[in-house]
Amino acid sequence: MKRFLLGALWACACLAQFAFAAQASSTTELPLQAYTRAATSLNGEWKIIVDPYENGYYNYRYEPFDQQATPSQNAYFTDSKQKTPGDLLEYDFDKSTSLQVPGDWNTQTDKLYYYEGTVWYRKTFDAPKAKKSDRTFLYFGAINYRADVYLNGKKLGVHVGGFTPFHYEITNQLNDKNNSLVVKVDNKRHADAVPTLNTDWWNYGGITREVKLITVPKTFIRDYKIALTSLADKIVSGSVLLDGAKGGEKISLKVPELNIQQTLTADKQGKATFSFNADNVQLWSPENPKLYAVQISSGADKLGDSVGLRTISTQGKTLLLNGKPIFLRGISVHEEYSAHGGGRVKNAAEAQHLLNWAKGFNANFVRLAHYPHNEDMVRLAEQMGLLVWSEIPVYWTINWNNEATYQNAETQLAAMIERDKNRAAVIIWSLANETPVSDARNKFLVRLAAKARSLDNTRLLSAALEKHYRADNESIAVVEDPLAEHLDMVSFNQYIGWYDGAPEKIDRITWEINYNKPVFISEFGGDARAGNHGDVNKIFTEEFQENLYVKTLKMLDGIDGFVGTSPWILTDFRSPRRHLPGIQDDFNRKGIYSNTGEKKKAFYVLKNFYDKKAGNQTTNN
Ligand code: GCU
Repeated sequence: MKRFLLGALWACACLAQFAFAAQASSTTELPLQAYTRAATSLNGEWKIIVDPYENGYYNYRYEPFDQQATPSQNAYFTDSKQKTPGDLLEYDFDKSTSLQVPGDWNTQTDKLYYYEGTVWYRKTFDAPKAKKSDRTFLYFGAINYRADVYLNGKKLGVHVGGFTPFHYEITNQLNDKNNSLVVKVDNKRHADAVPTLNTDWWNYGGITREVKLITVPKTFIRDYKIALTSLADKIVSGSVLLDGAKGGEKISLKVPELNIQQTLTADKQGKATFSFNADNVQLWSPENPKLYAVQISSGADKLGDSVGLRTISTQGKTLLLNGKPIFLRGISVHEEYSAHGGGRVKNAAEAQHLLNWAKGFNANFVRLAHYPHNEDMVRLAEQMGLLVWSEIPVYWTINWNNEATYQNAETQLAAMIERDKNRAAVIIWSLANETPVSDARNKFLVRLAAKARSLDNTRLLSAALEKHYRADNESIAVVEDPLAEHLDMVSFNQYIGWYDGAPEKIDRITWEINYNKPVFISEFGGDARAGNHGDVNKIFTEEFQENLYVKTLKMLDGIDGFVGTSPWILTDFRSPRRHLPGIQDDFNRKGIYSNTGEKKKAFYVLKNFYDKKAGNQTTNN
């Protein structure tokens, strides 16, 4: 049970790192626990300019305007207006069309369905009410893929990575009225990006998550961490980090339902750690997703959150939640709700729809593939008693030899952990999906695993590995990957009966997985068009998919150390790789629901299997 003791050490180490970064520079990668803070929303209608030749960014000699001492008024980020009748200006945001934020552009207008390139977004707004001494931050939930951000013509910075939050401090940079926020969004794919050029999901571009302004006092609560760090002794410990502290500031920590009220003192880095006994704590579990109100205050700032307390660990091949064996009745989920023509999940209601569908077959676990999902999804899962696997898009053939690619992956990993480190539902950080084994790949991922553990040693590490067959016996499937020794749970994707032989092949496979660790199957499945029926051997029928599920679940249930699975996938989703007319039509049809929520026959096979597993489950609370 080494994990818990390290938890407390982790909390301090983690803070030391942030404290250092806080001193060095207020970079956009510093945490900003924004979800529960009062904020001024900048969501809604934004003016846009579709700019495939980046005419608003480069001059005709292909030199970036924003590297000129005085940028030309032709630079779109200056949001210039025609001053005289003779003034030559070839753009005008005020007269341009608009898009809704948050939201991908692909499904808001047919013109942008396949578009990969630059779209300029512009929002004008008045400064929120604030005291002279207050500080103001501009927060983005996520932008896919690259964002160049400008405020009143001044560049705030560049963010790369399509699925993690970032922010800029804009204190004293706002006009009282009519501020111009311009964002150049570019969703072009690149070989050395994360993900790389090839994926099996739609490359939705845009400001796909919320944008808001957060005003805080001069010294404010930048970050906090709280977790159950000892199950045996019911010890809760963690830390608080102030920004702007000189040292000595008092911090109040309250957990009313646990009769906890502590006064902490910040050190010179603004850091304070805490630990308390919670003998009567109700442990968070899928059966009892108990959340406690946590209130942190210091000086003029206060921050609240709802936090679950639980432990996750492994013992040999057993997975333990709160010290008791648990079976993960899972499903893989993309962040797409296309029931009414949409694309990327853009609000909590759409996230709720997807998670309700998961509950429909007695799931207690969601694999949020293949990138960090929006915060609503994670918090709703936590409220609903769904455990979470969270993943960065180190997917397929990443450029393992490129240091910038590694730094990009590490930044996305850190931002994912930063945002969700207080979410009890999140039990697994996943580093990669189906990445081909090579020395360069192993080096990259082993380095990433070490980074993940340095940021959070209280959760399990995994990755979706691949299987192969014994050279001397094609009926023995083997999971053997140099990365596995650096992971806590051996997870892998397998498609026997779909990409790999016909379903009858499943019946004659045995598995060789020689690790003394829990075994989780992170993907299996096959396409079926809802309503397409036929003989069990007719591909793309519901009957084919149903039979595949029956055979696969029987095979997996026989694996020693089998602790759960997240079949591919909850619902049909758009993919630029799926072109079969009348069956796929730009959709990957491996959902057990159609994208409009119709249950396919495989749904009932999975529900039946999970009902049985739930029946055998001892409760974990
Ligand atoms: C892979 C991959 C998924 C993909 C699936 C499929 O396992 O991880 O992203 O969608 O197979 O081919 O449907």
